[in-house]
Amino acid sequence: MHSAGGNTSEAKLARRDAILAAVTRASERLSEPLPWTTLVPDALRILGEATRVSRVYIFDVERRDGVECVSQRFEWCAPGVTPQIDNPALQGVPLDAGGFTRWGELLRAGEPVFGDIDEFPESERPLLEVQEIKSLLVQPIFEGKRWWGFLGFDACASVQSWERVEVDTLRIAALLLGAAIHRQTRESQMLEVQKLEALGRMASSVAHDFNNVLMVIAGAMELLKGELDAAGARGIARGTHCEMVDQALDRAGTLTRRLLEFSRRQTGRPQVVSPLELLRREEPLLRQAVGSKARLKIIDGSSGSRRVESVCIDPTEFAQIALNLAVNARDAMSKGGELTFEVSTLDATEPPASFDRMTDGRWTLIRCTDCGEGMTTDVLAQAFEPFFTTKPRDRGTGLGLSTVQGIVTASGGHIRVSSTVGHGTEFRIYLPVASAH
Ligand SMILES: Nc1ncnc2c1ncn2[C@@H]1O[C@H](COP(=O)(O)OP(=O)(O)OP(=O)(O)O)[C@@H](O)[C@H]1O
Ligand SMILES: [Mg+2]
Repeated sequence: MHSAGGNTSEAKLARRDAILAAVTRASERLSEPLPWTTLVPDALRILGEATRVSRVYIFDVERRDGVECVSQRFEWCAPGVTPQIDNPALQGVPLDAGGFTRWGELLRAGEPVFGDIDEFPESERPLLEVQEIKSLLVQPIFEGKRWWGFLGFDACASVQSWERVEVDTLRIAALLLGAAIHRQTRESQMLEVQKLEALGRMASSVAHDFNNVLMVIAGAMELLKGELDAAGARGIARGTHCEMVDQALDRAGTLTRRLLEFSRRQTGRPQVVSPLELLRREEPLLRQAVGSKARLKIIDGSSGSRRVESVCIDPTEFAQIALNLAVNARDAMSKGGELTFEVSTLDATEPPASFDRMTDGRWTLIRCTDCGEGMTTDVLAQAFEPFFTTKPRDRGTGLGLSTVQGIVTASGGHIRVSSTVGHGTEFRIYLPVASAH
């Protein structure tokens, strides 16, 4: 027992006061304008010293292949305690298969898990005992309404009994942590949108000016061709040179059109539409885009009484999303394959995307899957960046996915991607279900 002051009620009161003061200090720390990941180590230390436990840690939860798994992300250890941060057994622990279904149920419902390990169910003990834990307290962390992970306190030296008031106070610490995470996710999303908007404005003005320059060159070129023809001086070599200039003009024209499309998304006209119907309407165009080697499938992924619900988006912009994804899939499936668009609406109760990190709400999901060459982690990390491309100079502008992301974000949605080299890529677009329908 870390009973520095014995068990007298005075000592208990002193301990409570210390915990309360620590939660206040940790909260002040967490509200500083720095990334929460930078602030967390200090916050954990403050809480650890006040509670006099052996370890304080944070786990996050994510879905891997549909299975809810938890992983340790941060840890503070008291002097002399064996750290667990590098323990591979605490990475990607499946809650159900790992014997921690009870934890999942309690934490998801906003309830803590605490007590002596000796009194815990058989299935939970092995993993806790190897860490020499005698008693623990684990409080859920919520990002908005979504269960994000948990904040835990281990006592290893001896059993530590948690008083209700301590449990509640430490719950506040977990709430504050969740609020810090939530605030920063929102901030970074907003920054991303602002960056794209600024880039859009810049792209638009450059494209307009550039287009004017092109018009002058194209006009002069036409005159020149006419003069050469009139003088009977076009000849083979000059003809080829003229063609090269024409081709370059074409290419430059395409580039400016893409830049204009990219920036125009800000002036979209959202309507309440069914993504499934839009995809079906665009099917001929999409089929052409994926080329003759690959197949295209558009699937209604609704099941039972669940219908695909409408979303609010500019239909032209939605078509632009689908077209960009289709062209990318075609490029990735040079040997042929299949591209599927599957549309479904997620149940409000379903944790749609706990692995995709979103706040709650009702979402219509458009899943776009190809079986192409996939992306390496490096490419994946940059895929959405404007002007990032792995394609030859004269093929890709690198604006496709950033356009897609811009449209999705401006429509209040989210886009996620997973990819395996040699197997394929899946884009998941979540659009909020339109309330008026
Ligand atoms: N379905 C996919 N499979 C594999 N890699 C992909 C896929 N989609 C995108 N990528 C990768 O992401 C990069 C960026 O894609 P993006 O659509 O933004 O630009 P691009 O296709 O290279 O050029 P653009 O679309 O402007 O012509 C691509 O160059 C490619 O490396
Ligand atoms: Mg592209």
